[in-house]
Amino acid sequence: MTATLIDGKAFAATVRGKVATHVARLKEAQGITPGLAVVLVGDDPASEVYVRSKGKQTVEVGMNSYEHKLPAETSEEDLLALIERLNADKDVHGILVQLPLPAHLDEALVINAINPAKDVDGFHISNVGLLGTGQKAMVPCTPLGCLMMLRDHHGSLSGLNAVVIGRSNIVGKPMAQLLLGDSCTVTVAHSRTKDLPEVVKRADIVVAAVGRAHFVQGDWIKPGASVIDVGINRIPAPEKGSHEDGSVKTRLVGDVDFEAAKDVAGAITPVPGGVGPMTIACLLANTLTACCRVHGLAEPEGLTA
Ligand code: GUN
Repeated sequence: MTATLIDGKAFAATVRGKVATHVARLKEAQGITPGLAVVLVGDDPASEVYVRSKGKQTVEVGMNSYEHKLPAETSEEDLLALIERLNADKDVHGILVQLPLPAHLDEALVINAINPAKDVDGFHISNVGLLGTGQKAMVPCTPLGCLMMLRDHHGSLSGLNAVVIGRSNIVGKPMAQLLLGDSCTVTVAHSRTKDLPEVVKRADIVVAAVGRAHFVQGDWIKPGASVIDVGINRIPAPEKGSHEDGSVKTRLVGDVDFEAAKDVAGAITPVPGGVGPMTIACLLANTLTACCRVHGLAEPEGLTA
């Protein structure tokens, strides 16, 4: 291994520590406690795990957590009415509607009903437009976490060649905008990109967000490049044995062939323990930022784009 390991777990703990310190100061000096409302519709087990984790970490940094669990058959009208109430609630500074929503609900309609100033996911069309035009926005949490780790490793990103693999609205597109904002030369690659290994080979920064296990090969990486692996893929791991019911155990891997890439890259994030823990840490940072903005207070340093 020649690459520096970028420890997202430790970095996320540092971010949460900064948030907690700022929250404590806000409470003492202003009597304000930031609050995050999380709305979960239905009983998807993975979403329930995420929502529980968000609530726990929100309380741990000293903020108020408001959880709204609604049945899967909730009507659009009832969900929009709840969002309206949260938009009007002075104690709620951030609103997150957990995705995916049940199929009968229009995700775009619901997300765009959130007050953009409280849209801590950065998914509202106004925030997408603000980010795209280089204005102050709420920024999606996963790309914000990637940007923080890259800034920490490189100092300045100015002039570096960055390749983002993946063009999703949640990761790829906002990641490209953030890297442009830091004066990188940005290429957005995807499943139809020609000569992808050659494109990746030119990059000083590679952000992999394709959702395919071990898609990015070690010999695609330029020696010394920084590799940020956003992928979370579960693959069979027969070496770990079987469960009692006979099914083979599994393990989590990223979109990058870590074992090969770590001997070429200058820095690399592992999976698990890389980008993953940064997402909720950035959600907490965004909630604090939203609270400071609405009260006209100084924003926390190092926690925004
Ligand atoms: N579901 C999985 N990840 C996310 C996320 O970052 N935000 C929301 N709202 N839903 C999700």
